Amino acid sequence: FFQNVVQGPEDPILGVTVAYNKDPSPNKLNLGVGAYRTEEGKPLVLNVVRHAEQLIVNDQSRIKEYLPITGLADFNKLSAKLIFGADSPAIQENRIVTVQCLSGTGSLRVGAEFLARHHHRRTIYIPQPTWGNHPKIFTIAGLSVKYYRYYDPATRGLDFRGLLEDLSSAPSGAIVLLHACAHNPTGVDPTNDQWEQIRQLIRSKTLLPFFDSAYQGFASGSLDADAQPVRMFVADGGECFAAQSYAKNMGLYGERVGALSIVCKNADVAGKVESQLKLVVRPMYSNPPIHGAKIVATILKDRDMYNEWTVELKAMADRIISMRKQLFDALQSRGTPGDWSHIIKQIGMFTFTGLNTEQVAFMTKEYHIYMTSDGRISMAGLSSRTVPHLADAIHAAVTR
Ligand code: LMR
Repeated sequence: FFQNVVQGPEDPILGVTVAYNKDPSPNKLNLGVGAYRTEEGKPLVLNVVRHAEQLIVNDQSRIKEYLPITGLADFNKLSAKLIFGADSPAIQENRIVTVQCLSGTGSLRVGAEFLARHHHRRTIYIPQPTWGNHPKIFTIAGLSVKYYRYYDPATRGLDFRGLLEDLSSAPSGAIVLLHACAHNPTGVDPTNDQWEQIRQLIRSKTLLPFFDSAYQGFASGSLDADAQPVRMFVADGGECFAAQSYAKNMGLYGERVGALSIVCKNADVAGKVESQLKLVVRPMYSNPPIHGAKIVATILKDRDMYNEWTVELKAMADRIISMRKQLFDALQSRGTPGDWSHIIKQIGMFTFTGLNTEQVAFMTKEYHIYMTSDGRISMAGLSSRTVPHLADAIHAAVTR
C-alpha cells in the first residue's frame, strides 16, 4: 500500500536534537530546542514539581477515571487566574472559558479548529518570523495564514512601523497571533507603549487577538509582568484567545500540559463557546491526561508551593540572563567583528544571533554546535563551561 510514500523532512527544531543525538563528539552542544538545562547541562525537574508529585502519589483517594472533555476544573480556573490575574473582572463575570489542552501546541490547535468552524474570517496574521510550528498548526486547521512584519534584521529589533502598517491593512475580523512575551525565535518584544498602540489598532480595526503564552515568567522572571500584554487586551472588555503552556515555566515539557482560554463578550456566549470546544476536542483526543494538570493545580493552589515555584522560575530566568551577559562578554573579549549587543537586549530563552545558514552549518560541522538554521540559539542550553566553545565557534564563523 505505502510504497509510494515519500520520506518526510525532519522537523526544523526537533530534528536538530535528532542530528545532535547521532553525533559521537564529546564536545557536542545542543542549542536547538528551547528546553532548560542546568549549569551542568542537565534537564531540570523543579523541586516544587517533585514535591507536588509526591503529594499526588501519596493521595490514597487518587483515581484514574477519565477527566471531563474540558479537563481538570481546578487546573482550568487556576490557569485563567495565572494569565489574566486573580482580580480579572472577566473571570468574575464568567465570560472566560478555559479548557485544558496538550501544552501550547494543543491549545493553539484546539483554538484554531474552533476558529475554522465558528469565525467568519478564516485568516490569521502571524509574525514574520515566528515559531516554525505556528503556520502548520493554523493551516492544517483550515485557516489561511498571512504574515505581518515583525523583525527588522538591520536593527535586530522590532519593525514596529511595518507591524502597524500590515495590521492596519488586515481585513476586519482577521485573527492576529501575538507572542505574549519572549517572542520566539527573535527574543524581541514590543515595549508597553508599543503594546498599547497595537491594542488600539487591533480594537479599532476589529481584529481578533490570539496570544501564544509559552514563556510566562521566563522573560522577566515575573509572572505578572510577562502577562501584562494579555491583561491589557482583556481589560478593555474585548474578546481574545490565549494559549498557555507549562512546558517551560514549570519544566513540564513531556507532560504536555497547557490551556486554551477564550475571553467572550458575556457568560452566555462563553457557555456556548465551551459546548463547541467540547465538540472539537472529543473526536480529536477525547479528553486530556490527568498527571500534568494535577501537578500544576497542586502548585498553583497552595501559597507556599506557588512561592517556591516563583523562586525556582526566577532562578531559571536569571541563569539565562547571565548566559546572555557571559556570551556577550566572551565575544567582546575575542574582538569578534560586529555589534553583539542584541544578545543582552533580547528577551527569553532564545537569541536570534543574525548568523546565516552557512555560518550555522559551519559551526555544526567544525564545532559540533547544534542550532536551528535560522541562527536561533537556545540560551537555556548554555552554561559557563560551554560559553567559550560557542564564542570560539561564532568568532570563527564570522571571520572565515
Ligand atoms: C522551541 O521553539 O524550541 C520550543 O518551543 C520547542 C518546540 O516544540 O519547538
